[in-house]
Amino acid sequence: MRLTLRIWRQAGPASAGRLVDYTADGVSPDMSFLEMLDVVNEGLVKKGQEAIAFDSDCREGICGMCSLVVNGIPHGPDRGTTVCQLHMRRFKDGDTITVEPWRARAFPVVKDLVVDRSAFDRIIAAGGYISINVGGAPDGNTIPIPKTIAETAMDSAACIGCGACVAACKNASAHLFMGAKISQLAVLPQGEVERTRRVTAMIAQADAEGFGSCSNEGECEAVCPKEIPISNIARMTREYVRAQWQR
Ligand code: SF4
Ligand code: FES
Repeated sequence: MRLTLRIWRQAGPASAGRLVDYTADGVSPDMSFLEMLDVVNEGLVKKGQEAIAFDSDCREGICGMCSLVVNGIPHGPDRGTTVCQLHMRRFKDGDTITVEPWRARAFPVVKDLVVDRSAFDRIIAAGGYISINVGGAPDGNTIPIPKTIAETAMDSAACIGCGACVAACKNASAHLFMGAKISQLAVLPQGEVERTRRVTAMIAQADAEGFGSCSNEGECEAVCPKEIPISNIARMTREYVRAQWQR
């Protein structure tokens, strides 16, 4: 396939960015989207030009590093799929594809398609953990947890922290991410002890980072590669209301 790529280039956080057109030739339908960008970068380096900066790590949909907005959709057109798992067979010969970084005040652009998502780390550091000693895996296995509760916790724990939910939201809200992280602990007995402090601290940190609030648009759920449902946001809100009564 021969494709036209319109790619966001930005030299640094303080520089102005712009979309630059590139031609990608000989693209195989079996390539992943990131492999296609690798080939484009090889061509740029051979011509003595600067490679396009983009994030990736596992390239198998589990680490949360990849973060491209493809034709206006975070992670691209395939539902429940990270952009590292998106394949070029999804596109046609002659297509023009626009590639941009996540756009949110709390995720400043570092370079080209790379954004700084350390705000998520600071939200987790504010309370997204268990600090009491709950023992090792054998101890955990001795606590009887109903299967439905264990599965609910595991479904929420599937969040890979990619930030696509923020990029899709018109409010740049981190509620789906926080809802997943709070839910995975809130439904288990191990998370009970720090329940009140956790939700209060995480929401306060998200506000301080500049993330917006939730107005129930649902874009976050639509683009989430792990298909985290917005019922996690409802659970977080219930946790927050409960925490205000307990303070
Ligand atoms: S909720 Fe989904 S979109 Fe948001 S950070 Fe987690 S995996 Fe990514
Ligand atoms: S590179 Fe790890 S999820 Fe995409």
